[in-house]
Amino acid sequence: MVALTIGATAALLLGQASAYHQERRQVGSEKHTVVIPGASSYNGLNLIPQMGWNNWNAFHCDVNESLLLTTAQDMVDYGLRDSGYNYIVLDDCWAVGRNESGYLVADDYKFPSGMKSIITKIHALGFKFGMYSSAGVLTCGRYPGSLGYEKKDADLWAEWGVDYLKYDNCFNQGQSGTPKLSFDRYKVMSDALNQTGKEIVYAMCNWGNDDPYDWAYRIANSGRMSGDIYDSFNRPDDRCPCTEAAGCAWPGFHCSVMNILNKMPAITSRTMSGYFNDMDMLEVGNGGQSDSEYVVHFSMWAINSSPLLIGTNVGTLSPANLAIYSNPAIIAINQDTSASAAKRVWRYTTDPDETGEGEISLWTRSLSNGDRIVALLNAANITMNMNVTINEVFFDERTAGAYRAPPELSQTWDIYDLWANRMGEAEAAAILNGTSVEIPANSTTRFNATASTYAKGVESAHPALIGSRVGTLQPSGTFTAEIARHSVGVYRLRSREAAMRKRDEL
Ligand code: GAL
Repeated sequence: MVALTIGATAALLLGQASAYHQERRQVGSEKHTVVIPGASSYNGLNLIPQMGWNNWNAFHCDVNESLLLTTAQDMVDYGLRDSGYNYIVLDDCWAVGRNESGYLVADDYKFPSGMKSIITKIHALGFKFGMYSSAGVLTCGRYPGSLGYEKKDADLWAEWGVDYLKYDNCFNQGQSGTPKLSFDRYKVMSDALNQTGKEIVYAMCNWGNDDPYDWAYRIANSGRMSGDIYDSFNRPDDRCPCTEAAGCAWPGFHCSVMNILNKMPAITSRTMSGYFNDMDMLEVGNGGQSDSEYVVHFSMWAINSSPLLIGTNVGTLSPANLAIYSNPAIIAINQDTSASAAKRVWRYTTDPDETGEGEISLWTRSLSNGDRIVALLNAANITMNMNVTINEVFFDERTAGAYRAPPELSQTWDIYDLWANRMGEAEAAAILNGTSVEIPANSTTRFNATASTYAKGVESAHPALIGSRVGTLQPSGTFTAEIARHSVGVYRLRSREAAMRKRDEL
């Protein structure tokens, strides 16, 4: 928790947390003492969304130590670790039982060197290590779960050097169905992890059951908000029955990219530094979607501050997929210190008779330096000319109830296309075959987040992070872009006035 003293107007402008601000203002004072819940993480960890790799989407239970180690090495070689993907997360199916003292025993056929030694090797490659279990008697794959063994398991993982826990929801013995039941069950592991004294990021995976957006930021660093993703752009599947997050009693699985994305708008205000709505691991590279659909998937996860966990076989990445996973201009949004999520300003379904079934939507997001993100999403079946007006970009400011027009409306905004500098096939192929290792300092396609941070890179206007200028949005103006079927245009808007003021200050 962070206590700040700010004026009423500033509290309003903070937008998403303003309901809390109103409730907690000190009556009779000119300034208001404001408590921003979650403005810093409950355990001080994960202030920006976690990034890494998880084996589940591509390998399911087919895991072993060589997969973990070769993937980590490939991620170093392909520049993915330095793009920021710095967790290697082992998912389900690693434990075979418990020993006489009640401690989990790893499968020594899959992991012959032992977990501790594998984790040490992963650390030596510059990664942190993530482990999986379930807040139930069994994991979802029916391996031993941690319910009732939280302290022992947390202590063991800490001793092994584990830095991250993904904690699932299967076989929970009926201890769910109300927020309180889920909160209490997940809190036991949260406390156990914190009591180890080791920093361990806690990634809840209860698929949005019992509205974790209302309670989980006090005990966890991220929380899955939907049933499991599958590698489909928009195909509805009976096994994923909900189309809204709120009140979804049966999250299921086989949820498409568009299904999960459209569950986000109602809950994006609950994304905050230290607690992120986890839209599930990425499918880019698994073969079920087109290149532009994967661009939509990656972009929309990024701008919504979802954790970005690569969910494919890194060893067989194609140049096109490497180019998507490593687009630094998109990752920089995800890693922005505002730790906020996007808002869906509007969504229209398209007429099945005229243009085929589908939808288009406009998303915006504010960034900590005052830049604004606009995403024009065309999930319809034909190319569309999509428009966005300045009034739509600053819709929230316009409707915030302030007595004067928001200054943003009278400014001129330069528009930068964040996919314009996508790494080409040849460059990506050279990285994959090991002939392009060094990242040139002025690269427009690559950014080394190990050497610096995305925040510093944006501050110093690193050419890989800002995209390419494609237009201007004037006061009362409109920006139009042609967006192909199942594609998205993602733009960074920068105020000329603010940029000029900054130059003057220097
Ligand atoms: C699911 C979870 C998946 C994966 C799987 C393992 O419940 O959402 O991401 O971890 O269990 O069995």
